[in-house]
Amino acid sequence: MNQKDAPLWQAIKKQVNSRSVQLHIPGHNGGQAIASEFKTIAGRGIFQMDLTEIPGLDDLHNPGDVIAKAQALAADLYGADKSYFLINGTSCGIIALIMSLCKQGGKIIIPRNAHRSVLSGLVLAGAEPIYYQPAVLPGFGCLVGPEPVQIRDLLQKHRDVKAVIGVSPTYYGIVGDIAGVAKICKMAGVPLLVDEAHGSHLRFHPEFPPDALRSGADAVVQSTHKTGGSLTQSSLLHLKGEQIEAGLVAEALRMLQSTSPSYILMASLDLARRQMAQQGKDLLSHTLELSHWCREKLLGIPGVRLLSVEELGLPGAMYLDPTRLTISLLELGLTGYQTAELLAERYGVIVEMADYASIVAILSVGSRLEDCHRLVEGIGKIAVLPSGKPRAIPQTVVMPAPEVVLSPREAWQRLGQRTSLEQCLGQISGETVAVYPPGIPVVGPGEKITASVLAYLLEIRAQGYKIQGPEDPTLMTLKILI
Ligand SMILES: Cc1ncc(COP(=O)(O)O)c(C=O)c1O
Repeated sequence: MNQKDAPLWQAIKKQVNSRSVQLHIPGHNGGQAIASEFKTIAGRGIFQMDLTEIPGLDDLHNPGDVIAKAQALAADLYGADKSYFLINGTSCGIIALIMSLCKQGGKIIIPRNAHRSVLSGLVLAGAEPIYYQPAVLPGFGCLVGPEPVQIRDLLQKHRDVKAVIGVSPTYYGIVGDIAGVAKICKMAGVPLLVDEAHGSHLRFHPEFPPDALRSGADAVVQSTHKTGGSLTQSSLLHLKGEQIEAGLVAEALRMLQSTSPSYILMASLDLARRQMAQQGKDLLSHTLELSHWCREKLLGIPGVRLLSVEELGLPGAMYLDPTRLTISLLELGLTGYQTAELLAERYGVIVEMADYASIVAILSVGSRLEDCHRLVEGIGKIAVLPSGKPRAIPQTVVMPAPEVVLSPREAWQRLGQRTSLEQCLGQISGETVAVYPPGIPVVGPGEKITASVLAYLLEIRAQGYKIQGPEDPTLMTLKILI
């Protein structure tokens, strides 16, 4: 296939240049009825490209022309049999895969800390989760990817599983033995779905960890908007092999995606794919140079710790994406939250995220050397600020095993009631509670609040740990099902 083509983009350009009369949606009519302030910053072109399914522009839900060609080019580049444009992010691709593989009561193996779109998929499909807990990386307290042995043991125990989900890379750029996991899934005849939200760039430079399709996954969803150069909300879903019925995935996507998909988002996918095909290696070589520069400078600052390959060595952590900079100033007495706040407020540097132990800065194809200078300078100045004693990552008490009473879908359908935490013993939780990091839920919707779960919750509340999930993050109350 000719990767120099961008069929959807070319069709949109032709339409914009045709200056035809628009008696169709969207109602702003090529920008005529757009607030002038918006146009001042965005320019006019973006509104002229905001088109709909008119002749020549195909239909995302029944593609046969330029969108079909653009998707086929994406499949060709990523090594898939079939690829789909997503205009509702990786979230919607993950939900579509779960819905297409699991019907009511269908079992699916998922990491305990899966992205919340997985929970949405379980609710919509009525599927039953079989959880595994990814290991915690010492020193940084972050979670790693799936381990082949974990998946093998679960597949041996549950012979009727419909799919396995893995997250790779993690938010921290950690990649495990996906090829090993894929081999085990293949032997069991169970499809492996990989949430590769953070890895759309891996394929385009040999210095990166191997991507999931290359490692043998059956389905992969990538947030092209995160690291692949397309616009926010645009993602790609790839299928490979016979294990997954493409027709069912397409049907689920028709249910989940808007019937008015944005042509701007879809054009950005078409062009991001062409850019990666033509310049991916060069662009990423530059990103890698920046990352090596940052790594060298950051490691030269006393008290600064940086997640690097030498820290890995677990089966769920075999490779590291060097463009993820996980930086810890715990030895200097600063948590990741404090470091991120200081960086933003004093030095105007906004990083992707922070947890107790570290901050995560992402370098990607659009990063510039001056951005790296600002980051290194900011960290250097923060490192010499007078701060407290060195900190250690808080050790949480041993996490009790979950006792699932209702599936996430059954839990969703029940009414809930906010109740004082002390009164929750023996009740069924209506929400998820996780200590962050590492972000593994101690309890999820539909799970029993046993004596050990309650003791754990009371302990983490008393310790004042940062909690994710519940509507009341102080944990004074919890939603229970009635
Ligand atoms: C691991 C992981 N999976 C899935 C998603 C969802 O991706 P999107 O925002 O493209 O819907 C995210 C978003 O941050 C994520 O971090």
